[in-house]
This record gives sequence, structure tokens and C-alpha cells, in this order.
Amino acid sequence: MIRYPLAQDTIDREDVRRLIQWLETNPRMTQGVVTLEFEARWSRWLGVAESVFCNSGSSANLLMYAALLASGRLANKKVIVPSVGWVTSVAPAIQLGFDPIMCEADPDTFALDLPHLESLLAQHRPSTVMLVQVLGVPHKMDALLALKARYGFILLEDACAAIGAATGDRKVGAFGDMASFSFYFGHQMSTIEGGMVSTPDHGFDQNLRMMRSHGWSKDLDAETHRALVKQYEVDDFHAPFVFYEPGYNLRSTDLNAFLGLAQLEKLDWIVARRSANHHIYERLLGDRFRLQRYESRALVCSISCGVLADDQEHRRRIVSALVAKGIETRIFSAGNLGLHPFWMNRYGKASFPVADRIHHTGFFLPNHPSMSQDDVRHIAEVVLEAGR
Ligand SMILES: Cc1ncc(COP(=O)(O)O)c(C=O)c1O
Repeated sequence: MIRYPLAQDTIDREDVRRLIQWLETNPRMTQGVVTLEFEARWSRWLGVAESVFCNSGSSANLLMYAALLASGRLANKKVIVPSVGWVTSVAPAIQLGFDPIMCEADPDTFALDLPHLESLLAQHRPSTVMLVQVLGVPHKMDALLALKARYGFILLEDACAAIGAATGDRKVGAFGDMASFSFYFGHQMSTIEGGMVSTPDHGFDQNLRMMRSHGWSKDLDAETHRALVKQYEVDDFHAPFVFYEPGYNLRSTDLNAFLGLAQLEKLDWIVARRSANHHIYERLLGDRFRLQRYESRALVCSISCGVLADDQEHRRRIVSALVAKGIETRIFSAGNLGLHPFWMNRYGKASFPVADRIHHTGFFLPNHPSMSQDDVRHIAEVVLEAGR
């Protein structure tokens, strides 16, 4: 029996009560004014100009790649992708005919390894880099932004599992030309399913809105809509149903946005709790185990606490002890994406020392805001005892 789950719902009874009250007013639930309000409040919370709500973090990643193509701003379709991340950080690149090049993981944060990234940038001159902010531990952003300035790539930032983390006073997800977030169960906040793309760039925002909804111009600002209507000489009767790009339907609903607004109210509290839990794990396990390391000005908001064992046998022992005590665990995210069939069958095995170590020895420990500090201490003790 699981006594300590990896994740718990952040949608609580009060959220459900408020939702029922709202539903009783018989609102229209498809994407509408509540979504617009959620997008605006999210943008304010993040400190980025524009945000586009969609139905998952994976859809948010798909939208970023699709908007890039629709923008016409790419000099080539080469994209550097991380070895440690999620399948849908990479999958849209494959689906949309990009040429993905995989990068080793940084020995500290486990995000893009900067020396390897620079050698790939110099060799391939890609237009795009996909950064995954691994598990709410911010990457070395000054160094990464210096590479961006030097090589001039577009930065996509997958912050799906890093909501609330920050470097100094800049939140994770506020660094990329576009950044994605996931509001799935177990993430820092939840809209049941849900995702967001945020961008400081008004042009990308318009591309995102168009690709989210069929490729039409209905959700664009009046000026962009009018310019398209004029360019293609569209009459008023046709205007709402002219498709300028081969788009998708990746919309969410006002019901999910309603939940998102309530989650935002408690997000800072959630971040503080997750951060405090993570620091207890670090204090108790950091001398014996390899955990992600980060800059001193970083605010960590982990989704789970990722730990590396010494080797596979060591991990097996610890995992058995955790399972025996009812403590849920799993592999470290997806391990090394370069060792998964979806990648190997297309590009061959991508093996790297750090990413492989994470693949073979990494495991997760629970972190969520409803855990007490005693729970965290107990779990750390089980790991220390089994992994001595
Ligand atoms: C880094 C990263 N990107 C994308 C996703 C996909 O998010 P979703 O489950 O909302 O599709 C996840 C899911 O855990 C993730 O960890």
C-alpha cells in the first residue's frame, strides 16, 4: 500500500466548492473570458507579456515548435534538444520535420551541458535550442544566455515541471523566447489537464494563438486580424473561417481556467512548501547522495526530489526499501531520452556519461505541499538506511 505518494492533488475541497458554485450560474464553459483572465494573471505572475492557455504541457511544447515554423523566422530546422527531459520536449520536433541534435546533461543541474551545447552550436549553427528546466532546479541561466547572445539561437524553455522556480528575481519560464508549463496532476499546480505558453514576443503570441485554434485569425488582436483580412482580400462573411495556417485544436476550456485562477492564488504558498521540503532532503541526503546542484541565487521548486544512487544495484536496494515502507518512487523523469526506442530507432543510441548515470541510477522521492517536514525526514531516513 502506498502511504507516501509521489504526488497529491493541489485542487482541494474549497476549489471544488467554488467550481460548483460557478457551474450553478450556468456559464458557457468553452474557451472564453475566464481563459483570457487566467492568461493575463498568469502573465503578471510570471512577469512576461503574453500567455496562451492550452490543454496540456505537451500541447504547449507542440505549440511552441508549430509557432516557430509559422513565424517564418527560422534560418534552418536544426534544434538542440536535451537528453534529460520529457518525450514531448522532443517529439514535436520529430513530428514537424526538425532536425534534432541531442545534448549531454549538465553534471550539476542535469539540464543542457554548456560545453557540449557550445560545441554543438559551433558545429551545427542551429536556429533553435530547447532547454528543459529539470524538475524545478533552475539551470545556469547567465551562461546559457551568453551563448544565446553569441550564437543567436531562439530559446524554447520547457518549464513544465519547474513552475515557481527562479534565478534571482526572474522566474523560470521568463527566460525563453517562448516557454511552456504543465498543469497536470502532480505538477506544482493543476487545472486537471492543462498547459501554458508564455512569451515576451507579440509576434510569437499571435502565431501561438493561430496554431492553437485551427489556423484561423479569430483569437488574434484586431490589428493582426485586419492585416490578414486585407492581405488575402477576405470579405466579412468569410473572415471568421479563413485558415491561414494548418493549425490544431489545442484549446482548453473556461472550466479548467477557472481552476487555474484559484490555483494561482495559492501558488506562492505551494512554491514555499515544495522549496522547504526540498531543502530538508538536501540537508539530510546531500552528503551521501548526488542531488541536483544549483547557483546560490536560485530558488528551487522541485516537483519530486531527484536522487542518484551509486549504481544500479544500489538503486535496486533503495527502491525495494522504499516500496516496502509504502513510499512511492519511480525512475528519474524519463532518464536519458537518447536511450528510448522513439529516439534510438531514428537516430541511433545517444549515450552520454551524465545522462546515462541519471538513467541507470536516478530515482524520485515524494515532494508536494501537503507533506509534513516529518514525512520528508522519515523518507530520507529510509533512503539513508537502505543506501548506506
Ligand atoms: C519537462 C516536461 N515537459 C513536458 C511535460 C508534459 O506535460 P503534460 O503531462 O501536461 O503533457 C512534462 C510532464 O511531466 C515534463 O516533465
